[in-house]
Amino acid sequence: MAQLLDGKTLAQTIRAKVKARIQELRIHPGLAVILVGDNPASRLYVELKQKACEEVGIGFEKFLYPADISEETLMAKIRELNTRKEIHGILVQLPLPSQNADRIISAIDPKKDADGFHRSNMQNLKEGKPGLVPAVALGIMKLLESAGETKAKTAVVVGSELFAEPLVYLLRDKGITAEIVSPEDPSISEKTKNSDILIVAAGKPELIKGNMIKTRPSFFGIFQKPLAVVIDVGTTKVNGKIKGDVEFSSVSRAAKWLSPVPCGVGPMTVAMLLVNVVKACKLAEKPTKH
Ligand code: GUN
Repeated sequence: MAQLLDGKTLAQTIRAKVKARIQELRIHPGLAVILVGDNPASRLYVELKQKACEEVGIGFEKFLYPADISEETLMAKIRELNTRKEIHGILVQLPLPSQNADRIISAIDPKKDADGFHRSNMQNLKEGKPGLVPAVALGIMKLLESAGETKAKTAVVVGSELFAEPLVYLLRDKGITAEIVSPEDPSISEKTKNSDILIVAAGKPELIKGNMIKTRPSFFGIFQKPLAVVIDVGTTKVNGKIKGDVEFSSVSRAAKWLSPVPCGVGPMTVAMLLVNVVKACKLAEKPTKH
């Protein structure tokens, strides 16, 4: 059986460290969250972020808007938040009902971009100078580190470019070659089967089966030795239950390590958002270089 990567416990440890650091540094970080419309999942995510901020001592301000709010109104609010000294991080909860997310995010001061989604933060990451980095990618890297698989050479990331790109750069910085694979790729199995690390964010419940995971024959070919680290990022509601992109029964037998759903990447993403807000608060103290 694969060893499970316990994101819930690791996230709790990180949250406790963030809390201690805020107290030790005597800082008062603040996060502003913009929530547009009434998507129940988005509301739940924002509630989880608020609870986590309050627990560690990060100020939290929420701005709610109706689904049909204009892009100009949202951008004007962001520009106002950019100027407020007690707000160090700004986050626009995605997806937006109809507004152009890229345009709205481009209004955020890159030093306050708690999600690391601003083009200039992405560019810095691409150039190997990571500043504020998407929390989900940071959370996944922490989970991989906790597995201690330092010999991994290759990774496959199944999902959209937008999700996969930050991970590809972070993995590259660790000497790991990562390939982005579409969930529709006809040769997905061949690619996943040859990869030391597999990260899946396809939104397709149980897309990944045990026979798609890298193993090595052992004991005269009778057994398969598990080799791979598998990180499941999928969260799709099926009959009221959250399902990952990995078929747990077969993959937990084939993988060496598995980050499950729930209690894997989800709690880590919230914890790493807190880390980002503290980082943004520290950035605010630094004078801007000219
Ligand atoms: N929606 C789903 N994940 C995220 C995230 O990490 N940040 C924001 N802003 N919205 C999301």
